[in-house]
Amino acid sequence: MTTLFSKAKLGPLTLENHLVMSPMTRNRAMDNIPNALMAEYCAQRATAGLIITEGTSPSPNGLGYPRIPGIFSKAQAVGWNVITDAVHAKGGKMFIQLMHCGRIAHPLNLPAGARMVAPSAVAAAGEMYTDAEGMKPHPAPQAMTDEDIRSTIAEFAQAAKNAVAAGFDGIELHSANGYLLEQFIRPNTNQRTDSYGGPIEKRARFVLEAVEAAIAAVGKDRVGIRLSPFGVFNDMPLYDAIEADYTYLAQQLNARGLVYIHLVDHSSMGAPTVPDSMKATFRKLFRRTLILSGGYDAGRAEADLAAGKCDLIAVGRPFLANPDLVERWKTGTAVNAPDMATFYTPGPKGYTDYPVMKR
Ligand SMILES: Cc1cc2nc3c(=O)[nH]c(=O)nc-3n(C[C@H](O)[C@H](O)[C@H](O)COP(=O)(O)O)c2cc1C
Repeated sequence: MTTLFSKAKLGPLTLENHLVMSPMTRNRAMDNIPNALMAEYCAQRATAGLIITEGTSPSPNGLGYPRIPGIFSKAQAVGWNVITDAVHAKGGKMFIQLMHCGRIAHPLNLPAGARMVAPSAVAAAGEMYTDAEGMKPHPAPQAMTDEDIRSTIAEFAQAAKNAVAAGFDGIELHSANGYLLEQFIRPNTNQRTDSYGGPIEKRARFVLEAVEAAIAAVGKDRVGIRLSPFGVFNDMPLYDAIEADYTYLAQQLNARGLVYIHLVDHSSMGAPTVPDSMKATFRKLFRRTLILSGGYDAGRAEADLAAGKCDLIAVGRPFLANPDLVERWKTGTAVNAPDMATFYTPGPKGYTDYPVMKR
């Protein structure tokens, strides 16, 4: 019988349980290089069936936020290798989330020589945090040229290779929450008139080419994708054809055969609810692993697995605040509450110092 705490399959991998740690940006990577503190944090949470890392940039251009890690330099690969070794030593499995921020960036956050690029030169509404000068309005990005499109897809493929060489079990393309890949899918941010913009068949092209390039680099069993149908984060308004567009994506991704689709539902954080019909469409059209996420506790996770709505459940904030979440949920023990004030601050406070259960 499938339960939250029984072993699970993900492609050829066997996971210790059906609980996935959701990707969570924590901004502890000084100089964009993974470090020993991050290894400690991940190793503390290695009892998750699968850890998906925080958003990690495949390119200097993708480093929109301060202190987020990359996976394009030698030093970054070496840093990640320490982390994957620490997680594997405890029996965990690990995918890296490849996040190119695109227009959700600020030049003050980017390394020298990097550029803010996006499908079209449309600035996001609102402001962005920078270490140098605090909150700043979002500047307009540069619209990507043909050459930018080719080189960015090549960067995703190279990052996937670097990740597997650094010991990751696979990669997750971050095509959710308003970052570069989703900026291509959505009509408000993609106003291109070439073969990458216009109808959904063209707006989906960049994402599908990134999927194909990643599969060519590391194989279908090592490539997953995160999508946020009905997501509005980072100035991504809803529009009439949204369910039809994501239905097209479900079909096309199924045809590519990648190992999982990971759906985001941020209604527990005040975002619009993802309709049940949308989740059911992904379940029906996508034949490999489906991961659902957003606002789960143990009871709801167990119920959705038992109902066959998905194959795995991803959990964010409860894992952030409870290194031993699996044990706590298994034994019905109370959980620590997350401290929002330390979500994105450097150092161990609110990161590696959440207490484990008393024995
Ligand atoms: C501190 C924090 C950082 C996050 N960073 C990312 C990220 O890098 N990539 C991503 O896809 N989602 C990110 N998310 C969203 C989570 O993966 C997850 O979808 C969200 O927290 C809802 O799940 P939960 O209710 O289990 O926390 C972040 C959430 C939090 C709280």
